[in-house]
Amino acid sequence: MRRRGRVAPTASPARGHAIGVFDSGIGGLTVVQQIMRLMPHEDIVYLGDTARTPYGTKSPETIARYAVENAAFLLDKGIKLLVVACNSVSAVALDLLEQELPVPVVGVIEPGAREAVRRTRNGKVGVIGTEATIASGAYTRALKALAPQLEIYTRACPLFVPLAEEGWTDNEVAIAAARRYLASLKRSGIDTLVLGCTHYPLLAPVITKVLGPQVRLVDSAGTTAQAVQRCLFSRKLLRNNGSRSVSFFVTDAPERFIKVGSLFLGQPVESAVRIER
Ligand code: DGL
Repeated sequence: MRRRGRVAPTASPARGHAIGVFDSGIGGLTVVQQIMRLMPHEDIVYLGDTARTPYGTKSPETIARYAVENAAFLLDKGIKLLVVACNSVSAVALDLLEQELPVPVVGVIEPGAREAVRRTRNGKVGVIGTEATIASGAYTRALKALAPQLEIYTRACPLFVPLAEEGWTDNEVAIAAARRYLASLKRSGIDTLVLGCTHYPLLAPVITKVLGPQVRLVDSAGTTAQAVQRCLFSRKLLRNNGSRSVSFFVTDAPERFIKVGSLFLGQPVESAVRIER
């Protein structure tokens, strides 16, 4: 990527290269978990920009700048595909990354929107996410492009991010926040809700408690992993054998990432390396 003076290697992607994944911090580990499950032979290099998280409250320009820097770091590691495992970045900077990178780029919004369209029966779909994601209108555009007749209801739920990181996912504070945030969505009669933020799958039980079991929750982590697999397969870049390595890089002290990360990865994060920014 040559923009802003950052030069990254442009070697063409090869099957032996790793999948690069980045997020504003810890949340993208929900996507890594699904990639590991679906593609057990792929090496993964993950960057969590823990020094600058959260992104969801920042402006599109700042998020795009951070995204370019994160992508440049991963390209330098020799990746064959980049997963933007952050809804806020996918919402505001995916086009930019797609234009500038020499490897395929997969975001989380299109796969999530596709799954919601597949699941809804009454055509009323809700979307929750960070302020940046909701303000961008990216989910609404993606959903409308797939099914113009949908009724779409959106709501930013910023407090869900710290609640998930604190592990407060099913207590009275989480329930009070969910009741408040989801009241208008509940009234609108949606039958499908897109969890448009990496952290929200951890709050799925409380969201269902508030909205009722008739509302299907769409977690884009699983559908994004499927999109990655399809993309690698179609480009003959998928690895079908061999052991794998998963490495984690962070931009701040790794201790918190290692501790909280296991909640999001569903297994212990053994170690993470801090990089300087
Ligand atoms: N990863 C972000 C997202 O999915 C949530 C955390 C943040 O705001 O940085 O939008």
